[in-house]
Amino acid sequence: MAKYKIAWLPGDGVGIEVLEAARIVLDKLNFDAEYIHGDIGWEFWKKEGDALPQRTLELLKSVNAAMFGAITSKPVKAAAAELVPELQNKGLTYRSPIVRMRQLFDLYICLRPCKAYKGNPLNYKENIDLVVFRENTEGMYSGVEFHPVPDELADLLAKLSKPFAPFKDVPLDKYAISCKINTYKGSERIIRAAFEFAKKFKRKKVTVVHKSNVVRATDGLFLETAKEVAKDFPEIQMDDANIDAMTMWLLKNPYNYDVIVAPNLFGDIISDLCAQMVGGLGFGCSGNIGKQLAVFEPTHGSAPKYFGLYKVNPIATILSAKMMLDWLGETEKAGVLENAVATVIKDGITKTYDMGGNATTIDMAKAVAGKI
Ligand code: IPM
Ligand code: MG
Repeated sequence: MAKYKIAWLPGDGVGIEVLEAARIVLDKLNFDAEYIHGDIGWEFWKKEGDALPQRTLELLKSVNAAMFGAITSKPVKAAAAELVPELQNKGLTYRSPIVRMRQLFDLYICLRPCKAYKGNPLNYKENIDLVVFRENTEGMYSGVEFHPVPDELADLLAKLSKPFAPFKDVPLDKYAISCKINTYKGSERIIRAAFEFAKKFKRKKVTVVHKSNVVRATDGLFLETAKEVAKDFPEIQMDDANIDAMTMWLLKNPYNYDVIVAPNLFGDIISDLCAQMVGGLGFGCSGNIGKQLAVFEPTHGSAPKYFGLYKVNPIATILSAKMMLDWLGETEKAGVLENAVATVIKDGITKTYDMGGNATTIDMAKAVAGKI
């Protein structure tokens, strides 16, 4: 019997291609795993009205970790129009499967290391080595949303938000509400995870991102919680910044930052910015990590226009596989894999289109496997 059970969720579009690439390197590493395919993606939304079917949830309950490719998402109305006729008008609503996975399995850490590997022509500057901790289950992604707004909620808000209620006389279908819900528990555990990481890997500083000067309740709670948690880590410096200023400072001086922790949506934004500084989405790896399960995925989407071309850079997915090895405690294999990636980038012989070359997804995977 294999040592690990890994759910293998290619999803849609180039998700299928980059996962194929990741398998080439994992096999070369002799990673002792049984890979179990899971249905997920647009095809299942159209046919079954569920892009993340129950059988896949069951699979996820039975594995050590999962690798996920990408999924096509469309706006609610466009998604509903693509359902098979039997499922039309049943009131089914499309929700992003990855967001659902994060919530259903309480994968509260979204870990996104952004490291400039030497020789990458796409690096913004050399030696950037940032790690983003994004809260992954609540905040703007809580999924508590209303459009149109129900009467009782409109009444309650008008009552509670007196005297400031700009929406008071607006027809209920002419405004929408998305609730940003932050809890102490949700904030505390992601902030603590960032500090613990900083301590373990001898990082100097944790920067807390928020917008507490305006979004005072939720972001205020996040910042206050960070100040409290920081007391348990006197050896780590803590600072904080508003999200808007943070994007500017990050570009201006990325070397001022080290570990960054942010609520869900700000973490989403910051992690794309940081990924771009180290080569763009072709290098953006990530882990959705909970206590029992972790799901690793490239930050990029399904890129339908590239599907079938085997063109996209698989390094984001290969580095996500490296993160999975680390999480499983296979740190030696993880190290070997990261060195192989670093060597291929430094050699500059194999380059995918984003790097200015014409290597295919599979060429790149084979080049990395060749250094293992
Ligand atoms: C990400 C993506 C997802 C998100 C989308 C695909 C739902 O942008 O993982 O950063 O917003 O979290
Ligand atoms: Mg994103």
